[in-house]
Amino acid sequence: MCGIIGYLGSRDATSILIDGLRRLEYRGYDSAGVAVLERTGVQSVVKRAARVETLVEALQERMPEGRLGIGHTRWATHGRPTQVNAHPHTDCRGRISVVHNGIIENFEELRAELRRAGHRFASDTDTEVVPHLIEEYYRGDFLAAVRQALARIRGAYALVMFCLDDPELLVGARLNAPLVVGLGEGEYFIASDIAALLPYTRKVLVLGEGEIAAVTPLGASVTALDGMPAPTRVLHVSWDTEQAERGGHPHFMLKEIMETPEAAANALRGRLDDQGRVHFAELELPDERLQGLAEVRLLGMGTSRHAAMVGEQLIEAWAGLPARAQDASEFRYRPALVGPDTLVVAVTQSGETADTIVALRQARQQESATVAVTNVVGSTIAREADGVIYLHSGPEIGVASTKTLVAHLVSLGLLALRLGELRGVADRRQGLVRELRELPALIRQVLDDGPRLAELARRYAGYRNFLFVGRGLGHPVALEGALKLKEISYLHAEGTSGGELKHGPIALLDRDTPVVAVCTEGPSWEKLLNNVHEVAVRGAPVLALVPRGERALADVATDVLELPRSGELGSAVLATVALQLFAYHVAVGLGRDVDRPRNLAKSVTVE
Ligand code: G6P
Repeated sequence: MCGIIGYLGSRDATSILIDGLRRLEYRGYDSAGVAVLERTGVQSVVKRAARVETLVEALQERMPEGRLGIGHTRWATHGRPTQVNAHPHTDCRGRISVVHNGIIENFEELRAELRRAGHRFASDTDTEVVPHLIEEYYRGDFLAAVRQALARIRGAYALVMFCLDDPELLVGARLNAPLVVGLGEGEYFIASDIAALLPYTRKVLVLGEGEIAAVTPLGASVTALDGMPAPTRVLHVSWDTEQAERGGHPHFMLKEIMETPEAAANALRGRLDDQGRVHFAELELPDERLQGLAEVRLLGMGTSRHAAMVGEQLIEAWAGLPARAQDASEFRYRPALVGPDTLVVAVTQSGETADTIVALRQARQQESATVAVTNVVGSTIAREADGVIYLHSGPEIGVASTKTLVAHLVSLGLLALRLGELRGVADRRQGLVRELRELPALIRQVLDDGPRLAELARRYAGYRNFLFVGRGLGHPVALEGALKLKEISYLHAEGTSGGELKHGPIALLDRDTPVVAVCTEGPSWEKLLNNVHEVAVRGAPVLALVPRGERALADVATDVLELPRSGELGSAVLATVALQLFAYHVAVGLGRDVDRPRNLAKSVTVE
């Protein structure tokens, strides 16, 4: 999820691009760059593998002077955060410049084809195929070449680009990634989001999926990929800058929860082929090594530890391989009984959690195979592990993890499927693949139920203690539901398995201690229903999350929240999202600072 900005007008493009990049930096901040078409007719590209201010220092040495340009602030997905991997990217002759947000799924295939045709590539990015592909099709009509190139691309993109031979044309295109055109007085902007445009214009044209905007000094025209004119939607925006950064939401946490369908789709994108086989581009462990595994350990902290607990169950169930999730900080102080036939999976959003780093190093010393499942390209853990599975969720700013947890669950599901494939476990495979593919749409349905969750949260926000209970995959979901609630609302909440309930936690229950029952589908469904009866007769209010249409708890639970039906993993993901929204609304109701809860840090880099 990078930030992009383009400008065409009569003012100095470089200063407008810098200003836009500063406003977009929250979308990505590992590198930044600009390309400006100078008055002299040459193109200047300046980029740095650092924050926007470092780029500004470099530009101040010699500001490119022009009226047309593009800029980018990067959150790496393919290729480490280095200067050559920073955007803009150009074609072989340096005449076409492109900035991109998204993932081009078939870039390896396109790059091989373009290399055979004589193109030379400078970076490791997926984006660089775009200028070369346009160059390949360019016969004097830039827009036509862009259309031909886009027809070859699979994946997600918001692109802004120009060509030296067409100094009065700025082109933007979008598919599964946002892009807006700002309409000023005799000047035009194209940006990945409205925040970059606010100082200049509030008149915004929102591009639809698969649409291309061609901007000239005479105006902006929008067409579909095939060149047919598309209807234009112009909005007048009344947001202030902060609201715009949060996409109009009151908090980053809510914005990020709303981005979950996209995060799940990004974690899946390009990784499941038509036969349902799993492919991970950066998982550089040879198949033979993975086939010879005797066990898997999954290490993480906080929310990531709960993801690891889900991963443990999936790997055992879907790959038939013994698996164990561990608190990374505990793993490191125990005798490391792992060896070359152990796969150690470091589960970490940031890739910088100190305890997880040290645990990973210890596993490497024991010669275990190591994989990082992380959101941050080039992070310490991504660099040190043998292989990486990137989440591709874009930056997460709210301290409490939300969308990246779902991306972790999806990625660990894919890893379990891959291990199963290598071990010849084929049963239920098609069903599991379908379950994963349906997830983004089902998550959207849960988000559409936001008002109901807000209403439930209002009713429960008056309690001081909560107990979350679940079984099977619902157990880590219950632990996470409790963690999320305590992190951001400061109410006491604990999670337990249904089986453990009678061994202690049930003593806490009375009419002032509600139970949130995560009744997801699975083999222990009946047992969980019994648990709900047990807590209800003790007078505890019960909020039960059940599959849609399920009536078994209608007369027992105080409130029932129905979730779309899915498989076991799907149901766990949907309940997770619902509980994130529940915690969010409780915390907002109590007036908490949900994006920056007291005493917590986004990334705990000390032990
Ligand atoms: C902190 C954050 C949590 C996160 C945990 C692990 O405690 O507040 O949201 O789950 O660190 O972080 P990681 O980056 O390793 O996933």
